[in-house]
Amino acid sequence: MSCPDANERPHAVCVPFPAQGHINPMLKLAKLLHFNGFYITFVNTHYNHKRLLKSRGLDSLNGLPSFRFETIPDGLPEPEVEGTHHVPSLCDSTSTTCLPHFRNLLSKLNNESSVPAVSCIISDGVMSFTLDASQELGLPNVFFWTSSACGFMCYVHYHQLIQRGIVPFKDASDLTNGYLDTTIDWVAGIKEIRLKDIPSFIRTTDPEDIMLNFARDECIRAEKASAIILNTFDALEHDVLEAFSSILPPVYSIGPLSSLLNNVSDKRLNAIGSNLWREEPGCLEWLDTKEVNTVVYVNFGSVTVMTNEQMIEFAWGLANSNKSFVWVIRPDLVVGERAVLPPEFVTQTKNRGLLSGWCPQEEVLGHPAIGVFLTHSGWNSTLESLCAGVPMICWPFFAEQQTNCRFCCKEWGIGVEIEDVERDQIERLVREMMDGEKGKDMKRKAVDWKILAKKAASRPSGSSFVQFHKLIREVLKGKN
Ligand code: UDX
Repeated sequence: MSCPDANERPHAVCVPFPAQGHINPMLKLAKLLHFNGFYITFVNTHYNHKRLLKSRGLDSLNGLPSFRFETIPDGLPEPEVEGTHHVPSLCDSTSTTCLPHFRNLLSKLNNESSVPAVSCIISDGVMSFTLDASQELGLPNVFFWTSSACGFMCYVHYHQLIQRGIVPFKDASDLTNGYLDTTIDWVAGIKEIRLKDIPSFIRTTDPEDIMLNFARDECIRAEKASAIILNTFDALEHDVLEAFSSILPPVYSIGPLSSLLNNVSDKRLNAIGSNLWREEPGCLEWLDTKEVNTVVYVNFGSVTVMTNEQMIEFAWGLANSNKSFVWVIRPDLVVGERAVLPPEFVTQTKNRGLLSGWCPQEEVLGHPAIGVFLTHSGWNSTLESLCAGVPMICWPFFAEQQTNCRFCCKEWGIGVEIEDVERDQIERLVREMMDGEKGKDMKRKAVDWKILAKKAASRPSGSSFVQFHKLIREVLKGKN
């Protein structure tokens, strides 16, 4: 790859939503663009920047002269327990307070003689305040929606669900009386979907609900983006991706970004990390001592919380399955209290269970010892599992995780869903996925998807590879 002088490079300003599941894919995209000749400014919030430094024990993140980090405030006080902010407060705060800070940042960048003029903005789909700033400067603004295409498509239909009077629900009992099983057949690209599989923010009776309105409004703003990027690939979500063409600005499906990034062999670039939690060592070494396909990997991502009772049911389900497991328990996993497991569970499973606070997930999933992933169905986790050929036991928590779970279980044939967090059910599903015929069939399908994912992103003729370079040519380096 030829590197032009810094000042001749196109300059992309990347603005992720300030949460782990959004920062990770945006950083991957930023690295890919840098590798393809772009000057990058990556914008974190003050709070997350501090956490990034702390998690790596560093004073500064500046790894490369043409890949810089800048910060803006998120408008919220720091949470009492270090972790992800309350999501509705964060959405409300970023959308109402960040714009002036972002404007100032752009103006500062454009006034630095050693920095090329900003030539495009790549903004998380739920940081659409950036549109005002890009329009003022006449810059292309590409929205990166970090969810699945199926999840995003459901969000895009929020305004119709509201217009048709289906949402908000009339009565709180609609959440439990079977109403969520109602199917609709008018979401573009999706033949049929139950209300319970639509991103969870519709589950409200309040017309003023922050998340319902936020998701609807951000999708309406998406119509004004120069283009939309999705971290998925054509073979996986073809029908939905095709259906976008008549609804939104051009959509570029360029995932899995991790596979696309495998083509990049720049050590200094690869060393730039995005963990907000300190990664605990030892996980991979422990897995090295285990046989192929014998370990259950359990991780609920960065936002999911559960009650102490639920955590105990997961624990005994795992213990009773008699399988080895790696279980990542964030300090803030249990609502309102510190996660503490029953001492008998810890003693009983000490020879076959590894507990950790945060791990290198992609490497763990890629380890041959992992047989199944018990996950909350976050989109990054889902895609990372699929790329590793690992089937899933899904316990979706919120947002479009419900949609991801539905597609994993019904469309892609690589997952089973936990209906109730109850120890016997967890034990049964773990056994079924690790030893049963169903599990073996899902493993085969997951490996098929892994091959297709690689084909899409790792080869110059692959759909995502082609789309990525088209995006650069047509939008990011093109004329506005
Ligand atoms: C969520 C989901 O992306 C999405 O469903 C929703 O839109 C809001 O944000 P999160 O719940 O954190 O994010 O899940 P996920 O998308 O799976 O992202 C977690 C990321 O953290 C993954 O890239 C995963 O590899 C990484 N991770 C998690 C680690 O590296 N180590 C860990 O121990 C846990």
